[in-house]
Amino acid sequence: MSRARILWISGPVLRARAEGPFAMREAVAVGPQGLVGEVIRLEGDELVAQVYEDTSGLKPGVEVVGSGGPLAIRLGPGLLGGIFDGLLRPLAGTGSIHVQPGQRRAAARTFDFTPAVSAGMRLEAGAVFGTATAAHGRVQRCLLPPRVSGEVLHVAAAGSHDEDAPLLRLRDAGGRACEIAMGHDWPVRQPRPVRARRPAAKPLVTGQRLLDSLFPVAQGGKAAIPGGFGTGKTVLLETLAKGCDADVIVYLGCGERGNEMAGVLDEFPRLLDPRSGRPLMERTVIIANASNMPVAAREASIYSAVTVAEYFRDQGLHVALMADSTSRWAEALREVSGRFGELPGEGGYPAYLASRLAEFYERAATVETLAGDSGSVTVLGAISPPSGDFSEPVTSHTRRYVRAFWALDVRRAQARFYPAVNPLQSYAEDTDAFAAWWAAQGNGEWPALRRRFLALLHEQARLERMARIIGKDALPPRQQLVLLCAELVNEAFLRQSALSPVDRSASPARQAAMMRLLGRFLDLAELALSAGVAPERLAALPVFRALQRMGEDIGEEDIERFAALQAQLEQVLGELIHAGREAPDAAATVD
Ligand SMILES: Nc1ncnc2c1ncn2[C@@H]1O[C@H](COP(=O)(O)OP(=O)(O)OP(=O)(O)O)[C@@H](O)[C@H]1O
Ligand SMILES: [Mg+2]
Repeated sequence: MSRARILWISGPVLRARAEGPFAMREAVAVGPQGLVGEVIRLEGDELVAQVYEDTSGLKPGVEVVGSGGPLAIRLGPGLLGGIFDGLLRPLAGTGSIHVQPGQRRAAARTFDFTPAVSAGMRLEAGAVFGTATAAHGRVQRCLLPPRVSGEVLHVAAAGSHDEDAPLLRLRDAGGRACEIAMGHDWPVRQPRPVRARRPAAKPLVTGQRLLDSLFPVAQGGKAAIPGGFGTGKTVLLETLAKGCDADVIVYLGCGERGNEMAGVLDEFPRLLDPRSGRPLMERTVIIANASNMPVAAREASIYSAVTVAEYFRDQGLHVALMADSTSRWAEALREVSGRFGELPGEGGYPAYLASRLAEFYERAATVETLAGDSGSVTVLGAISPPSGDFSEPVTSHTRRYVRAFWALDVRRAQARFYPAVNPLQSYAEDTDAFAAWWAAQGNGEWPALRRRFLALLHEQARLERMARIIGKDALPPRQQLVLLCAELVNEAFLRQSALSPVDRSASPARQAAMMRLLGRFLDLAELALSAGVAPERLAALPVFRALQRMGEDIGEEDIERFAALQAQLEQVLGELIHAGREAPDAAATVD
């Protein structure tokens, strides 16, 4: 092992004189406690390393020892249900966000192993060689590491085994024998290999109408959630963690306030999975680096999280990774870079901010795994732009790499209009690919309805600007109707309370029913207007109020009530239209 001695240290960054060869990105152990660090620059016989732990007490002369390999984490069945720091070391209990200095990883757990291979078989890299069953019954696949292949010499019998126990002995192409356990190490900065990447075909169903129906993200896609202070980023990510249709959730709390993180750590273990009724934690991994934890580890945490997500993807699962917030991660990058005197770029961030963001988002994908299954990692990253300014570097670079942009809006949040996603600033780029999927969910008109809703919302913004000048009452009836309809779409469809037991999540079928019903209202309202019915008369109809409230009133179980509501709508507006055509002057006054 190469050694070095500290010359200089500032916060998480140290310079050391090397007494042997070190490699870029090599993991190192610093000082008597063996604090975890990583080489980030080499110059002559000097190296610069960032240390992922509290460096108090370290001083010049203290020894740095190379590990001979890059920073790696241990991936295995014990991850599910765990709460870890940025280097995947377990956080002790939910109340405390703390790890032992120098600690490397979680203690191995025990699982029931069932082999899926036998001696003499040839296994390719990434093959499934068995399953590991947790005490609560969840089954995971045991994978050969992505770069190991060979002939099976021996496989352990079915039974209870420690995660680290060697279960499989292989002879590789070079004739060397190697031992494989349920878990294996993988360097966090290297994407795990796959057979092929697949184009987006299906959206990630989030249960949020505003997202699924207007700005869907692909399963295996990437979305950014930029939003100023307190606009609802964390609540939205938590809602998605609870309600989206991923098999596994990786939740990364990155540099957020300790008390906010403690809230997540406290809440998640108590949540039940709406799909199975079992604890949600059984299919969740939480990685937490609160703002009071060492800053450099925050930088690593984003790579650890996406590596964990890829590991589950490689088991043929669909994984959603929520990162809250990528801005705090970028700040960690900035702080470390500043400490060792790199030339700051835009906003003080290092020049490689953009490429690092690209590397992270690039790891989201739907893939064919090495074992031949289909799996995906969807990345949803919150951004906290200072003063909500979306032109700042982290937001503007992230925009280039994501396919869906869910812009949270301070004014909507202040009006308690949740989720506070501004439909005029948000966008999604894969929508054409999802028309067939929506048609299969019973909403063949989805592309047209989506365009219509968006056009209406844009028109609303334009008219509201005008109304501020000339007064709303001075607008002609046609424009008043646009405002009424846009308001209805906002209230009845886009607004969705994360706290409502009925409405916090909406299935695609329910979203489709609501969307079609509103589309029908827009048609009939236009006919009514042409027949001389004033918009305010429509607004006063009981059926209009029923539409406004349908999200709260009609739950998943009584979805057929949308049809009854539509029948009522057809009848009431049909009569108004008829009366208007028969007696144009009377229509404006008769009830
Ligand atoms: N979907 C929602 N439904 C109901 N209330 C919400 C919703 N979203 C946000 N809120 C309210 O807004 C508050 C702030 O939300 P949140 O903590 O998610 O904001 P944030 O954008 O993460 O803030 P920060 O910038 O401080 O991280 C919440 O405590 C909650 O009261
Ligand atoms: Mg937050």
